[in-house]
Amino acid sequence: MSTDRENFKNGFTAIMAMAGSAIGLGNIWRFPYIVGENGGAAFILIYLLSTVLLSVPIFLAEGTIGHRAQAATFRAMEKLAPNTRWKWLGGLTIITSLIILSYYSVVGGWSIHYFKESLIHGFSVDGEGQFGSFISSPWAPLVCHTAFMGICAFVVSAGVKSGIERFNKYSMPLLFFLIIIIMCYSFSLPGAKAGIDYMIKPDFSKLTSSSITAAMGQSFFSLSLGVGCILTYASYLKKEQSLISTAYKTTGFDMTFALLAGFAVMPAVFAGGITPSAGPGLIFESLPFIFAKMGVVMPFTSRLIAVLFFVTIFFAAVSSAISMFEVGVSFLVEQHNINRKLATSILFIGCWALGTLCSLSFGPLDHITIMGRNIFGALDRITSDYLMAFGALLYTLFVGWKMKKSDVLQEMSPFYYNIIKWLAPTAIVVIFITNL
Ligand code: PHE
Repeated sequence: MSTDRENFKNGFTAIMAMAGSAIGLGNIWRFPYIVGENGGAAFILIYLLSTVLLSVPIFLAEGTIGHRAQAATFRAMEKLAPNTRWKWLGGLTIITSLIILSYYSVVGGWSIHYFKESLIHGFSVDGEGQFGSFISSPWAPLVCHTAFMGICAFVVSAGVKSGIERFNKYSMPLLFFLIIIIMCYSFSLPGAKAGIDYMIKPDFSKLTSSSITAAMGQSFFSLSLGVGCILTYASYLKKEQSLISTAYKTTGFDMTFALLAGFAVMPAVFAGGITPSAGPGLIFESLPFIFAKMGVVMPFTSRLIAVLFFVTIFFAAVSSAISMFEVGVSFLVEQHNINRKLATSILFIGCWALGTLCSLSFGPLDHITIMGRNIFGALDRITSDYLMAFGALLYTLFVGWKMKKSDVLQEMSPFYYNIIKWLAPTAIVVIFITNL
């Protein structure tokens, strides 16, 4: 077993790494369209509430396991609950995170394609349908998926310090800088006010019970909960560093980024006369159209913003994908003593193959359906609606009921301990049943 475990250098880089895992497609791609589908500001309030009340404690539960054990997923469970079946919870989260990585990489690949398009050709006003024809073509998305996963593998294989920590230390501040520029541009568009109002004026009549579970689901996904990423990164947090302050700051950055992304996207959507409930295609399909429309009056600025926007998505996606990669890599390195580069290569091949099926499921393989969805949609649904919630549930039960209370209280206050013990598992079970 490897003894010279790496750690994050200090509190700042640890928070940047955790924020890197949290801030991703969930914030820029998923958040705006889920807000759009659920009626705007009222939904945002529920999302913020469930983040503070539920996601922070669940983050603390997962983090406590990694931080105390100073070991990742599988091994952490073996250390804290030797000779029990809890180690299979580690196994489950490794599988979940690798499945998410596989389809996430496909969307990450799309961002590479759109970056290239915005840089080389720009978008045209009559470009409707381009997104559909791009994702259903066999080769281009596949090449982009391969490139995306290759970049992630490169970062992860460099190690915790020289790869993950270094990447996030620079990319996170850059992401905030970029999204603020894009937001300012969006605010300046004619008709932007309607989009801003949509984000800040709640209309509670639009809320349904499914919006509440959607808000919790979004919050879990956005904070990378239930899949071992937070656990693994917390295991690289030095013993003397505070988990709770890391949790507050990471959650704060993640929520802020989601709101900034919402304020960057919605005003543009309204200015472009598009309905906010356009679904998953919102940022890939609608935004290029808006950029093209604006391009007629401000060709240079809108082209520049388009490039910056897709760069932002790309960096956000890489920083999250490497945390999923690391869950599997740390397992192979720690448990099986496999060299990091080899471990990365093995997982690259497996996840690339599964991602390839996902990528092709929009085109050549679209006749294969599981639960009425294509392969991509089915894996997304199975992981984000069920496996993540299931993993989070088991983590809260482990920390609330199995670990020694005095150990847990070294990482958090009794308030959070009680939420982890009672409220969080109950809420997750409710989400679970609603999703079924
Ligand atoms: N939190 C990431 C996002 O918002 C997604 C993610 C899910 C990352 C699960 C790691 C694990 O995009």
